[in-house]
Order: sequence, then structure tokens, then C-alpha cells
Amino acid sequence: MKTTVIVGTQWGDEGKGRICDYLAGQADYIVRYQGGNNAGHTVVVGTKTFKLHLIPSGILHPGKLSIMADGTLVDPRVLAAELDGLQAEGIDTSGLRISGAAHVIMPYHPVIDQLEEERRGAGKIGTTARGVGPAYADKAARTGIRVYDLLNPDVLRKRVAGALEAKNVLFAQLYGAKPMDPDAVCDEVLAVVPKLAPYVADTRRMLVEAADTDARVLLEGAQATFLDLDYGTYPNVTSSHPVSGGACLGTGISPTALDEVIGVVKAYATRVGSGPFPTELEDRLGDSLRERGHEYGTTTGRPRRCGWLDAVMVRTAARINGLTSLAVTKIDVLDHADPIRICVGYEARGETLRSVPSDVSVFEACTPVYEELPGWCCDTSGVRRLADVPANTRAFLDRIGELAGVPVRFASFGPERTQLVDLAP
Ligand code: IMP
Repeated sequence: MKTTVIVGTQWGDEGKGRICDYLAGQADYIVRYQGGNNAGHTVVVGTKTFKLHLIPSGILHPGKLSIMADGTLVDPRVLAAELDGLQAEGIDTSGLRISGAAHVIMPYHPVIDQLEEERRGAGKIGTTARGVGPAYADKAARTGIRVYDLLNPDVLRKRVAGALEAKNVLFAQLYGAKPMDPDAVCDEVLAVVPKLAPYVADTRRMLVEAADTDARVLLEGAQATFLDLDYGTYPNVTSSHPVSGGACLGTGISPTALDEVIGVVKAYATRVGSGPFPTELEDRLGDSLRERGHEYGTTTGRPRRCGWLDAVMVRTAARINGLTSLAVTKIDVLDHADPIRICVGYEARGETLRSVPSDVSVFEACTPVYEELPGWCCDTSGVRRLADVPANTRAFLDRIGELAGVPVRFASFGPERTQLVDLAP
């Protein structure tokens, strides 16, 4: 088996979808290993734009298997709607496989997500309100519902009644909200199960058996290193493990079977939701990055916070994930910037730091140390080959590679499939 993992090196929205889409063409299995419909991958194919939240981008490549593995979360209603949308566009969805062991986002999870955010008040996380945190919390508490349970209505009804016993006390007494009727909840979910049931499989067994073949497996991370439950800026994180280690936990593929780990780096930084962001630009430059880069959430439409590229984060992500190469995206968004800044270190409490501290209060106190590079001041959206890359752009990419200690393998100059350059000699 040959495995490649794609991970985000920042706070998500790095353009992992387009790198996955490119590499999916050379893979047999395209696998999502964590997260739910808090993710949003935008893939542009010709004149059509596909916004995928749950289904791996491999679905846009006929003849491949697209797997939602054990570590993902499935919202049955959202998945059914996503399947309908793809089928309406004439996409063949027969290659989809949903792990029976994946956990389910039940109708009460988004409700709890929203109520909890309201309760946090000023300390809110800024979640996507899709129920991801509450569903993973139930998984850890062993009160979760798995996809297998959806295929067995008696088991489902029993487990939902058990889960709602405690949640209804919270709804009434903590949140002042209406309790939920277990049967009505089950009926709502069971209504879409016939649409999903044909895709449910033992994906763990499929991948364990693939380990002894020459199958090519692409593991597609959602969110990113600094939103990881452990390696992110806790508590402003998601509730899963986007790091490459999470690819093993979420699929059953062993750590020694990972061949390549590609870190996706946006040429500048963005963040949605709350939490520290040392290189944030709260000025006109930040606004212009947002407009030029269309930095509004695929899932929620929220404006993203924007700032300069933080190479300290990328270097830290390189170590945590064992990155073997980088893919730098949205380079064209910097076409007008001059000079261009890259954060190469932090000053914090009298110390200079070269990697991201695990203590968020120290991270919050960090002020960036910048290096300036000359801009290229020309339109790069037409770059299609290595020879077309302007010298200053090349210098920018080389510097990112040096600072991260990992070579840049891909450079992307726009959302279309043709706007990605493979820099491999
Ligand atoms: P949750 O995953 O909905 O619980 O949200 C937790 C944090 O992760 C929030 O700050 C979200 O904005 C952020 N987040 C979750 N998914 C994504 C994503 O796909 N891109 C960027 N940020 C995300």
C-alpha cells in the first residue's frame, strides 16, 4: 500500500480540497479520517464549483472509492442532502463508503452546540454550530450513536432514549430549552437512512486488507494542525485530530504505513472563530486579503480573520505531522502585496520563540518577528508551469521551505485544476 496524508498547517481553509482533488486522480482510495460537516472543501471543475462538507473530494473522480472512515462524524440529514446535490449534477456516487463505526451527529447535537455557545457568552469558541463538539463528547462518554446503530432501529431507539434521559434534564434545567422526544428524533433520522444504507461498509476491514496490496490511499484531513484537540489553541479548537497521527486513529492504517505527509500552507494566514492569531492584520491590508482571497467560510459564510504567513506555525506543524513536503496555495492573492512579510519568530515575555508554545496564554502574548521579502507585483493567475513562476515568487516559496525545513512540492495560483504547479523536478 502507498499512503499519502494531506494536512492543514494553519487554522484550516488552506485549500486542502484542491490538493486532494489533484492527488485523487492518482489514488485508488480517498479517505476522510476525522471531522464532520464543520469542514468545507471547495473544488472547481471546469465551470462547476462543488462545495463538499462530508463526502471526500474523490467522489468527483469516477472509479475511485471515497471513504468516510471510523474517525469521521456523519450527520445523516446533511449527508443525504449532499448525495442528492451531487446526483443532481450527474456525479456518480456509487464509490462512496461510509464506515459503520463512524459516529452520528444526531438532531440534538447541533442544538446543544448552539445552546452551549450562547451559555459561554463572551468566552464562546465560535464553533460552526454543526454539533461536532457534542457528538465527539458523546463518543468519548460512550453515549454516542454509531452508523451501525442506524441500521438497527430497535438498538437506535434504546440508545437515543438513554442519551436523551440526561440531555433532557440539561435542556430543561440548564438551558431553559424544550426537551426532545426520543421517538421523534429517531423518526427524523430514520427517514433518510434508506438513502445512506447502501453505502455503509466495514471500511476498517477494507483498509486493513488494502494494506497487503499495492493500493494507493489518499488520506484527506479536514480542519488543521492548530485546530487539533490536543495540538491546537485549546479551547479554541475542534474536537477531533486533524494531525497526521489522527489519520491512523481514524482509519486503522498504522503509523509505519504512512509514506508521505503533505502539509498545505496558504500563502498568508486566516482563522475563523476565536483564539490567538499573532500575525492578524486588523487593517486595510487584512481587508484586502479577505476580499482578494474570498475569505468567507464555505460552511458558515463567516468572514475569516486574515494576516501574514506565520512560518513558526508551519515549522511546528512540520514537526508534529512529520511533513515530507509542502503545498503552498492562493499565492495569486499576494500579487499586489509589496513588501511581503513572513513571521519567523515570536517575542514573548522577554524570550524569542521558534516554535508554537503549548501554553495558550504565552501564545496570546507573542508578538511576531517579521522578515520582509520583495513582492512580485504581477498577475500569477496564469502560471501553469515551473518556468512561468516569477523569480520573486520562487524566492518566497524557497524561503517558506527553508523556514519549515521541508521542501515545497506544489504551488497553487488559483482555484481551478489547471492552476496547480507540481514543482518536482
Ligand atoms: P467546531 O469544529 O464546529 O466545533 O468549531 C471549533 C473551531 O474550529 C471554531 O473556531 C471553528 O471556526 C473552527 N473550524 C471548524 N471547522 C473548520 C474548518 O473547516 N475551517 C476552518 N475553521 C474550522
